[in-house]
Amino acid sequence: MTEKPVALIVLAAGQGSRMQSDLPKVLHRLGGVPLVGHALAAGRSLAPETVVVVAGHGAALVQKAIATLDPEAQIALQEEQLGTAHAVRQALPLLEGFEGRVLVLYGDTPFIAEETLGMLASHPSDVIVLGFEAADPGRYGRLVTGPDGLERIVEYKDADEATRAIRLVNSGVLAADAATLREILPQIGNRNAAGEYYLTDLPGLARAAGLRVDVVTCDEAETLGINTRAELAAAEAAFQARARAQALEDGVTLTDPATVWFALDTCIGRDAVIGQNVVFGPGVTVESGAEILPFCHLEGCHVSAGATVGPFARLRPGAELGGDVHVGNFVEIKNSVLDEGVKVGHLTYLGDAHVGEATNIGAGTVTCNYDGVGKHRTEIGAHAFIGSDTMLVAPVRVGARAMTGSGSVITEDVPDDALALGRAKQVTKPGLATRLMQALRQKKGS
Ligand code: UD1
Ligand code: CA
Repeated sequence: MTEKPVALIVLAAGQGSRMQSDLPKVLHRLGGVPLVGHALAAGRSLAPETVVVVAGHGAALVQKAIATLDPEAQIALQEEQLGTAHAVRQALPLLEGFEGRVLVLYGDTPFIAEETLGMLASHPSDVIVLGFEAADPGRYGRLVTGPDGLERIVEYKDADEATRAIRLVNSGVLAADAATLREILPQIGNRNAAGEYYLTDLPGLARAAGLRVDVVTCDEAETLGINTRAELAAAEAAFQARARAQALEDGVTLTDPATVWFALDTCIGRDAVIGQNVVFGPGVTVESGAEILPFCHLEGCHVSAGATVGPFARLRPGAELGGDVHVGNFVEIKNSVLDEGVKVGHLTYLGDAHVGEATNIGAGTVTCNYDGVGKHRTEIGAHAFIGSDTMLVAPVRVGARAMTGSGSVITEDVPDDALALGRAKQVTKPGLATRLMQALRQKKGS
């Protein structure tokens, strides 16, 4: 292993016209996150010093997405897509002063494995290209090899029949020292069939400059690029199949694996049980032994050991469930912390709340957290009892061991140990129900 520092350049400027979309191709989602997030996550495993994403089509949208996916990544703008070498050149100013290894990846190639990138980053050759034996070499660039490694890459459009017969093809991923890129990229011209500045001219020119150029190969599945919606759907199926197999291997019970949907970063502990038709959006961790019953949707949340969720529950970003918490059917929880042993069994919305240990939330409770302009917090102490159909009008506090009567609208803080009733007093009129019905029937009959 070389100990050289690593920088990452992710090419993401292309339009992806075959997607038939207003959204830049790299922002279409796979496993719950934009395509470019997959390449970035794989690249991040190398602990790069610098990450540059080259954006062009929809650059503002790409920049916004990158800011949340990988806040430390920088954006280089490629105004016109003049080719892959031109794209890499746009990134170089952001690597000024960087003297290590540069890895170039494509934002639309989501399955590249961390181990493969590690192999490229640590390879001793000056330029190292990732290739694969293609089942159908199609329009991929052909890798022309000789006795001492890779001699050059020939793009399909520029290849003669003999070269087109080569099945070892270019994945697009390559690594070279920053100094090599600075020296060779300016030599690359655009006199070829496509009139583009080809990054694939780098190996031939590097070799002419006396550098060592080689190829390493990987499985074709890793280099799968997304160009159409059909390919995106097929990639999603492949991603999910892999995620399900991985979860089973990690000791997670999936009652019906084909109906469970994972995100790129879903993290589930051993002996957790996931029922049928559960969807994990990004940012979910489920600890060992927790149980997610059928038909739940979880995103940006944490479920602790011993907790049970669902059936038919929705956990939104910021939901933190402590140990042994029970969340039942038709419950929605957003940006709320539920301490150990809290029970929220039925038909409830908790938003922007903190609920203390062992508190029971009755059916139909709603934290009224939004006044049309701002969001407000609800604090509920430990061992409290919220009666069914309580409206908690935030900001509001309910103390420890306090109770609210069923049907209460709680607008004022409730001290510890108090019982609060916020509802109209009941009025009972003996016999009135029967008399009223009689009167109504007579009126209808006449
Ligand atoms: C490229 C390679 C080819 C390889 C294939 C693998 C070149 C010249 N050819 O061909 O050898 O077999 O990938 O998929 O590199 N991009 C930019 N700016 C540009 C042009 C491209 O950011 O100006 C980005 C695209 O968004 C895309 C990637 O670079 O993510 C590859 O570009 P694309 O046009 O798809 O290259 P291919 O013709 O497929
Ligand atoms: Ca392509």
